[in-house]
Amino acid sequence: MRYILGIETSCDETAAAVLEGRRVCASIVASQVDLHAQWGGVVPEAAARQHVERLNPILQQALDEAGVGWTDIDGIAVTNRPGLVGALVVGLAAAKALAFALNRPYVGVHHLEGHLYSAFLETPDAPIPFPHLALIVSGGHTELVLARGHGDYLLLGQTLDDAVGEAFDKTARLLRLGYPGGPQIDQRARLGDPTAFRFPRAKVEGWNFSYSGLKTAVRREVERLEADDALDEATVNHLCAAFQQAALEPLIHHALDAAHALGVDTLTVVGGVAANSALQAQMRAACQQAGLTLFIPPPRYCTDNAAMIALAGYFRLRAGQCDDYDLDAYANAPLAHRQSDTSTAPNA
Ligand code: KG4
Ligand code: ZN
Repeated sequence: MRYILGIETSCDETAAAVLEGRRVCASIVASQVDLHAQWGGVVPEAAARQHVERLNPILQQALDEAGVGWTDIDGIAVTNRPGLVGALVVGLAAAKALAFALNRPYVGVHHLEGHLYSAFLETPDAPIPFPHLALIVSGGHTELVLARGHGDYLLLGQTLDDAVGEAFDKTARLLRLGYPGGPQIDQRARLGDPTAFRFPRAKVEGWNFSYSGLKTAVRREVERLEADDALDEATVNHLCAAFQQAALEPLIHHALDAAHALGVDTLTVVGGVAANSALQAQMRAACQQAGLTLFIPPPRYCTDNAAMIALAGYFRLRAGQCDDYDLDAYANAPLAHRQSDTSTAPNA
């Protein structure tokens, strides 16, 4: 299993990658963000149509950059869950067609399993450290997962309402900062004072998260400031800084608390929100103080990409797992279950 082709089309990035073993030879991402910005969010129909138009040239570009031909590909990994079904089926159909035409195995990968492995794309020669804790923070997910081995994951906590990236995007929309909002808030927060406003930190059971209360608190504050005609640029920066701090604190606190309680010494932060500069700085400081080893991928592997899907697929294909041509795409599918749930079957 030398060369693996990865395909990712679960949301608004059309992505293809080629790995040689665990080493990334090419990772191409065509973002649709400019298209969806006009609507202030991802429009599923438009996303699917863009994938159809872009996937073939992106695949060819990945092969060209890797310097390999189609027949060099030994296996194919494709995101088949969770995501926008119309978007997922574009990548899945391409993977099936290539697997058939090239007579190679292919495997469907859970999008979050890809994010989980993204932490180790930069260290292809080191073994994957198990067990480790993964804090998965993206536009659609906020999960704290214990990775015990390849394909062996335990859900420790998750959001009870909005995902943290969604909270960033909604807050940015409220402040008219454009889409996607995470990077905008990150930038603005650097210029603001996080103590200028005090927003609530959600109190939820266990290592779960909640962002609806924070979202409402920010909305009320913005409405009050607008009524007073006091929403100037400096105030927007303070709001961003205060919101960001309130959003990040539970993530850092729960991750460190879980690592301590379970005696795990390695932590990863993955997904689009892992690109946040304050989250990175605060997590680094907290892990250093607690003596934990921290892995955060570089920004290009935090947001959606196909290299992470190829890496997750690499381990599955290497273990002899591959899928039939009747594999489907699923909008919702858990990566992991809680310990009390006996149906733990990550790739069922
Ligand atoms: O992982 P991802 O690319 O897509 C999903 O699987 O959801 O994550 C996208 C999310 C968006 O909500 C975006 O606003 C957020 O990641 N994001 C950030 C930053 N960069 C991207 N959030 C906070 N700070 C950032 N620098
Ligand atoms: Zn993602």
